[in-house]
Amino acid sequence: MRGIKGKVYTVTGAASGIGQATTVRLAELGAAGIAISDVDVVGLERTKKLCEAHETKITTRKVDVRVIEDVNRWIEDTYTEFGKLDGAANVAGVAGGDGDTTVETIVQKDWDFTMGINVNGVMHCMRAQLAKLTKPGGSIVNVSSTSGLHGLPHSAAYSTSKFAVIGLTESAAGEFGKAGVRINAILPGPTDTKIFRDGEEKGLFSADAMGGSTLLGRMGSAEEIANVLCFMLSDEASFVTGASWVVDGGYNAGRSAS
Ligand SMILES: NC(=O)c1ccc[n+]([C@@H]2O[C@H](COP(=O)([O-])OP(=O)(O)OC[C@H]3O[C@@H](n4cnc5c(N)ncnc54)[C@H](O)[C@@H]3O)[C@@H](O)[C@H]2O)c1
Repeated sequence: MRGIKGKVYTVTGAASGIGQATTVRLAELGAAGIAISDVDVVGLERTKKLCEAHETKITTRKVDVRVIEDVNRWIEDTYTEFGKLDGAANVAGVAGGDGDTTVETIVQKDWDFTMGINVNGVMHCMRAQLAKLTKPGGSIVNVSSTSGLHGLPHSAAYSTSKFAVIGLTESAAGEFGKAGVRINAILPGPTDTKIFRDGEEKGLFSADAMGGSTLLGRMGSAEEIANVLCFMLSDEASFVTGASWVVDGGYNAGRSAS
């Protein structure tokens, strides 16, 4: 894939799932450096190990995306270490909610927790990244969700946060397009990762039901999302900005038809 080789990236939420798969794919494609972060340091080391076979230099950092100072320091240090920043995948996120919560009963701290990570976290990262990003040529992909297109009963905070990621992405794309920076959102459908299995345990949804309601009749894998995410980061997607790319096995199309 054109335009990943020799580049430097940051990936949040890189300890598992889509963030981990994105890191591995970027390394396979020849990225020169990837600074990965997460709150789960053990998972970060696992991700680093998965990239061992490649020449990519991987740095790991414990960063809670809610903490502005930590995000700023991480991006500053990455820039100092590698001398540039060509792209960023803002993947870290939480599901929030449980099977019974409604907008009437949601506890404020749960709402704030989800918004703090899924919206403020992406904002903190983008602000720091945009200051350092290669211009022209830099690229950011933020992870939203198909729940950013339709409300999700009993998961209002999650759904609202993912709508917000799209607004943030489109706004920034408009601000930085003329500088040659592309900023896009990817909207995964049901994907077999920890966040999804945790949500299933809380009674938010069922893997069988959601996987079964995609047009392909199954859930996606983290790698299938990461493949498209890396394409969006790469120069192959040079005319794509401000876009919300649904990667969901047809889940959204099936929903619209029903
Ligand atoms: N799995 C799905 O079905 C699905 C569907 C649509 C969108 N998404 C989105 O994809 C993204 C990645 O999720 P995933 O499916 O790979 O799940 P995951 O749980 O495997 O990965 C999420 C990662 O985010 C990290 N994280 C959580 N809170 C953090 C914080 N405060 N600071 C830094 N890191 C933090 C976790 O430790 C974890 O490693 C999320 O934004 C999620 O909302 C997932």
